[in-house]
Amino acid sequence: MTAIIDGDAVASDVRDGLGDAIDALADAGQTPALATVLMSDDPASETYVSMKQDDCEEVGIEAIDIEIDPDAPAAELYDTIDDLNADDDVNGILVQMPVPDHVDDREVLRRIDPEKDVDGFHPENVGRLVAGNARYKPCTPHGIQKLLAHAGVETEGADAVVVGRSDIVGKPMANLLMQKAAGGNATVTVCHSRTEDLAAKTRGADIVIAAAGVPEMIDGSMLAEGATVIDVGVNRVDADNDKGYELVGDVDFESAREVAGAITPVPGGVGPMTRAMLLYNTVKATSRQTGVEVTLP
Ligand code: GUN
Repeated sequence: MTAIIDGDAVASDVRDGLGDAIDALADAGQTPALATVLMSDDPASETYVSMKQDDCEEVGIEAIDIEIDPDAPAAELYDTIDDLNADDDVNGILVQMPVPDHVDDREVLRRIDPEKDVDGFHPENVGRLVAGNARYKPCTPHGIQKLLAHAGVETEGADAVVVGRSDIVGKPMANLLMQKAAGGNATVTVCHSRTEDLAAKTRGADIVIAAAGVPEMIDGSMLAEGATVIDVGVNRVDADNDKGYELVGDVDFESAREVAGAITPVPGGVGPMTRAMLLYNTVKATSRQTGVEVTLP
């Protein structure tokens, strides 16, 4: 039987576990606050940000909603970040990516106070992660580590293939899986658009993390019997429905489930975990900044 890994259920556990920590912070007068900054009119980005805000409100984190006209000068975004850095009532800052072309995205990441960088994208936080001393693990790979642990998937000694080398998912995922730490100790191969014979690589894997952003690129024929398959993809493809599109992953779920030992669905797999781990990092940030100690799930 193939296990379907239930991201909604694990995310719900994480949120429940954060509840006590948020209560403890609130009792100490330190209700966590996350500022989201959206400089885009892309409907998907708007939806992601509004979901993140709803998640915050649901668990008792204050959500501060900042929207900047995508045509505004880059300086408006930089100044906003400076103000949020200086505001002691703001514990976490998330600038939704991508930003418009006239904004230097590296400058955006560098500018956010690394203590408030709940995405874990600031170069200092990237460096710490690679060095095995993470301050804030990036939300998607951290969520995947939690999913694997909940599903009882052993990473130690496993052959893991990460398909995709993005700064947000592929690179930090590979780093976490190779670390000498719980949820790590895997032998990691990173595949990407220039990889030759991808199927040969994925067929040799105990764990496949599909994070290339290509709809249904991994199918059952590319998997070893019993492999664990984690699908990070959220791709809009044209569909004959009211919306005109549907969301599909990077994995062809129907053929993959015939072969895999465990697999995440889209939706309901990695997505809810990414959102839960943003709350986790915001609570952690608040604890670090205020000195109020909490237990994290
Ligand atoms: N855009 C797509 N994913 C992310 C994310 O995890 N964080 C931010 N800030 N922007 C994104």
